[in-house]
Amino acid sequence: MINRYGGPEVLEVVPVEPPPTPPDGVLIEVRAAGVNPFDTKIRSGARAAGPLVAPLRLGADAAGVVVGSSIRGFAVGDAVIARGLTGAYATHVTATPDLLVHKPDGVTFEQGAGIGVPAGTAYQVLRSLRLAAGETLLVHAGSGGVGQAAIQFARHRGASVVATASRPNHERLTRLGAVPVAYGAGLLDRIRAAAPTGVDAVLDAAGTDEALDASVALVADRSRIATIVVGARAAELGIRAHSGFRPGFIHPWERELRAEALGVTADLLNEGRFEIEVGAVYPLDRVADAHRHSESGHVRGKIVLVP
Ligand SMILES: NC(=O)c1ccc[n+]([C@@H]2O[C@H](COP(=O)([O-])OP(=O)(O)OC[C@H]3O[C@@H](n4cnc5c(N)ncnc54)[C@H](OP(=O)(O)O)[C@@H]3O)[C@@H](O)[C@H]2O)c1
Repeated sequence: MINRYGGPEVLEVVPVEPPPTPPDGVLIEVRAAGVNPFDTKIRSGARAAGPLVAPLRLGADAAGVVVGSSIRGFAVGDAVIARGLTGAYATHVTATPDLLVHKPDGVTFEQGAGIGVPAGTAYQVLRSLRLAAGETLLVHAGSGGVGQAAIQFARHRGASVVATASRPNHERLTRLGAVPVAYGAGLLDRIRAAAPTGVDAVLDAAGTDEALDASVALVADRSRIATIVVGARAAELGIRAHSGFRPGFIHPWERELRAEALGVTADLLNEGRFEIEVGAVYPLDRVADAHRHSESGHVRGKIVLVP
């Protein structure tokens, strides 16, 4: 939890009693919690809507075991995956049924904790972009949590994918079925060479001017370019920012798509048709290190906390 905004050092791990089972939901014993860049932005105050109401617990995504239930369909002992939580960085967290799916046996708790925000975002944005079979998608920041999910959903749709990453991550992009391109000077020429028939749509998870400028040079129709990093340059260029964390930035039907992605992704993982790369696992008491890692800007796959 945090009691003030600031650097990773403001994160505190304190012993508290588990909350009671809610009358409309379940109490989950957390086995793994996902660390998302958004958590670090909440912690730093970058996304503060006003003064901090302390203590504030962090963490939206988790997987664990139900240890208390007031609802049908989820019984004590069930393994579950949850999204949209408040306070998933904990030994216990509560959830209502709309935020839950059963964890298939073939999905680990760490993988399950890596689904909610990244897969939900990628799934929604590709649907909003109307990506179709036979088209070519460009993904900026392809080796991160959102990027890896976007590449896989696009390939399932029958699209070709060109994705950017630093060179050490190119092998990973190739494995997921994308043509890798290094970001940095000369980006536009390299993308053109990698996609000789052109690019039809763009998902930008990098948020850099370089990525945005290359995107508009490649795709004339702005409605087929989406960024998930809210910023001034995107607004200037007329590129829509899809933010699940800001009221009014995505439509209610798009919010539903983010929820739908949880079960869809869990099933695909279970069938061996999707990968969540768990890039780093930290014990809960090293949450500050997990945030430092996230803020390095070069996370591959997902960072997960284990209580
Ligand atoms: N709007 C929303 O609802 C929403 C939802 C989820 C995430 N987001 C935002 O989207 C961004 C990505 O999220 P994430 O979870 O995928 O992050 P992540 O897992 O931390 O991955 C970040 C990725 O950025 C890449 N990268 C770093 N510098 C780059 C550059 N100059 N050009 C291209 N790629 C670069 C890194 O690749 P290399 O290691 O190869 O450099 C890394 O794989 C974050 O800013 C996050 O806050 C927004």
